[in-house]
Amino acid sequence: MSANSVALAYLIASVFFILALKGLSSPVTARRGNLFGMVGMAIAVVTTLTITKNWALIVGCIALGGAIGAVVARRVQMTAMPELVAFMHSLVGLAAVFIAIAAVNNPASFGLPAPLPMGSKLELFLGTFIGAMTWSGSVIAFLKLSGRMSGAPITFGGQHMVNLALAIVMVGFGLWFFFSETTNWTAFATMSAIAFILGFLIIIPIGGADMPVVISMLNSYSGWAAAGIGFSLGNPMLIIAGSLVGSSGAILSYIMCKAMNRPFLSVILGGFGGETGTAAASDGTQKTYRSGSAEDASFMMGNADSVIIVPGYGLAVARAQHSVKELAEKLHEKGVNVRFAIHPVAGRMPGHMNVLLAEAEIPYEQVLEMDEINSDFSNTDVVLVLGANDVVNPAANVPGSPIYGMPILDAHKARTVMVVKRSMAAGYAGLDNDLFYMDKTMMVFGDAKKVVEDMVKAL
Ligand code: TAP
Repeated sequence: MSANSVALAYLIASVFFILALKGLSSPVTARRGNLFGMVGMAIAVVTTLTITKNWALIVGCIALGGAIGAVVARRVQMTAMPELVAFMHSLVGLAAVFIAIAAVNNPASFGLPAPLPMGSKLELFLGTFIGAMTWSGSVIAFLKLSGRMSGAPITFGGQHMVNLALAIVMVGFGLWFFFSETTNWTAFATMSAIAFILGFLIIIPIGGADMPVVISMLNSYSGWAAAGIGFSLGNPMLIIAGSLVGSSGAILSYIMCKAMNRPFLSVILGGFGGETGTAAASDGTQKTYRSGSAEDASFMMGNADSVIIVPGYGLAVARAQHSVKELAEKLHEKGVNVRFAIHPVAGRMPGHMNVLLAEAEIPYEQVLEMDEINSDFSNTDVVLVLGANDVVNPAANVPGSPIYGMPILDAHKARTVMVVKRSMAAGYAGLDNDLFYMDKTMMVFGDAKKVVEDMVKAL
């Protein structure tokens, strides 16, 4: 392909990527958005193949990686998607580091002059350190999300100062690499090693409830790492795609920070979540709660004027979305005004609950975001909390709590609260929840799907 045709094909692919992002901004157009993304990526990959010398090797690697990816993606449970995403971000980071090592080792194979010009060194420096941090940070996120490592914040005295000192030393070695006349492997390797360590240190102090912000932040980092490497390779497609991922990830991080009421700057610098300590709310005192059956709960809902359903991670685990649709329909038939309240970080990934409810074809107009519905809880007869915990935990209003400041759905303000879960166990953030012990709360124990099916039968 001529250089002009390649540039044109990359431009077309970029337009598809932008349309994909646009489509993904609403559940109504999300499928189309995904399709645009796939078409854009297909154009980008095929075009790149046409300008690749060693295409047999590349095709072989794509086939191998694609096969593994296809198997993993087919097998993964919806609830395990965030850890898969974290794992994939780690691979993007690692790929950026490997490419940088290859380019430093053999600039000619990348069409770069030797010794490397300063501009290329800067690009390689940026790509390497962002990539290394993305890799190690994503590995920690993966371990935390998959439960292989405790979600509790790991903190130690002077953590921020240690991080700052390491960052300064890392930049120092980067400058040494930058100003060395020949290839300075000592500076390059030390800088990369420090970046790997920084990635670990930045993510370990972040507590369970703040993981959504971490995921979107690492998403953004992986994009910038790819863009940095795009400059080194002189590949405009990688620069554009990387920048789109980097900037959309940054915007998503910003939205998440607002949703979680966390300061954006300290999040992107990795310094939040640790200061409040691990003051798990459980104070050891015996507290009493009330429990009832699915039939009791459906009787109360059937006689109410208004019901708000708050879905959470447990709904996803139980795959109760279709049963809950039936429940809502049955209540509607009885003249009850039923709506769903979505917390931005309910579940384990952004938009998790919206996707589940959309899959069950629950009408969008019944599904309301936190800001739209929060003021209505106090005028609502019954709130049904279905497998949710942290997102309705009033501890978020208590200074000193690890989730202090995180906005919650005001379920505790409804006239009656019903909570469906299997036990009195804590949610993802590991905190006790006073909502469960309120006089107006009734616990309904059991698997969410089974309980909701029983409710439907009773209605
Ligand atoms: P959680 O606080 O994790 O609570 C879910 C509850 O569901 C648990 O207390 C569990 O109690 C119950 N449950 C589990 N399986 C169940 C089943 N089969 N049937 C009925 N109940 C079941 O969930 P949430 O309220 O949705 O909050 C989300 C949390 O995850 C937040 O802390 C958030 O920060 C974090 N997080 C979110 C994301 C994104 S982007 N959304 C990503 C990572 C982490 P039992 O064990 O007693 O049943």
